[in-house]
Amino acid sequence: MIIAIINNKGGTAKTTSAVNLAAALTIQGARTLLIDLDSQASASLSMGIERAAFAPSIADAVLAGKSLKPIIRKTGAEGLDLVTGSPDMAEADLTLANLTGRERRLKAAIEPIRGDYDFIILDCPPSLSLLSVNAMVAADAFIIPTPPEYLALEGLVGLMAAVQKIHAGIGDKCRLLGILLTKVDHRRKVTEEIIGIIRNHYKDQVFKTEVGVDVRLVEAPSFGKTIFEYDRSSSGAVAYLQLAREITRKGKKA
Ligand SMILES: Nc1ncnc2c1ncn2[C@@H]1O[C@H](COP(=O)(O)OP(=O)(O)OP(=O)(O)O)[C@@H](O)[C@H]1O
Ligand SMILES: [Mg+2]
Repeated sequence: MIIAIINNKGGTAKTTSAVNLAAALTIQGARTLLIDLDSQASASLSMGIERAAFAPSIADAVLAGKSLKPIIRKTGAEGLDLVTGSPDMAEADLTLANLTGRERRLKAAIEPIRGDYDFIILDCPPSLSLLSVNAMVAADAFIIPTPPEYLALEGLVGLMAAVQKIHAGIGDKCRLLGILLTKVDHRRKVTEEIIGIIRNHYKDQVFKTEVGVDVRLVEAPSFGKTIFEYDRSSSGAVAYLQLAREITRKGKKA
């Protein structure tokens, strides 16, 4: 299954979720590839890749049309492969606009290697750019991570509408796998109320798993490690493993 991690709002834990969900799936024995689509390349940095070593990156495949296979690299997390992001992706929309099949470049790049993996996780930039459209075309399903906050809730409504529009435009089958509540802080008064609103409205489209606020998740990237290499007993590690199990179960049902 190819899963895009999408939210046009910044800082909703897309990258944290992409990296640690990918790692959790690997721990459960799935062959997993993480593709970093963001020009900030936060997922690549989180996996311990230094800026000078980003190339060759996803830009070579999506923008320059090179084969993805030689761009894939192993990571410190056993069994987890990575395609790095690149600052070159900042101009992806401009470059893509002039290319034929501009919405399908990522799908075409992934196609030859998709059989090599059980899961391919796409970490998207905080926008609904042509790149995110590429991600939705390539993916079977998408996950929307969001903290339970008022402004994020407002954003969620807009995002769902925009996603439907994209769907209608491209006629693809990418479905919502689930909304993931992240950075859940039960010490805040409004948290329960907003979680209630989201769960009431989106029902079983919201993952049962919630990722609570966990400083270990913030620290791990600075060591270039996933949460499982950094602190396996942390609440963040437990949550992302639980999420991986929920997804594997959902996948079997679908
Ligand atoms: N469960 C959590 N508890 C505490 N902090 C978290 C948690 N999840 C993510 N964070 C922190 O929140 C910040 C934003 O997370 P992250 O970079 O994963 O979001 P993003 O959606 O990928 O951001 P962007 O939109 O910039 O790509 C980071 O500093 C990250 O360490
Ligand atoms: Mg990110």
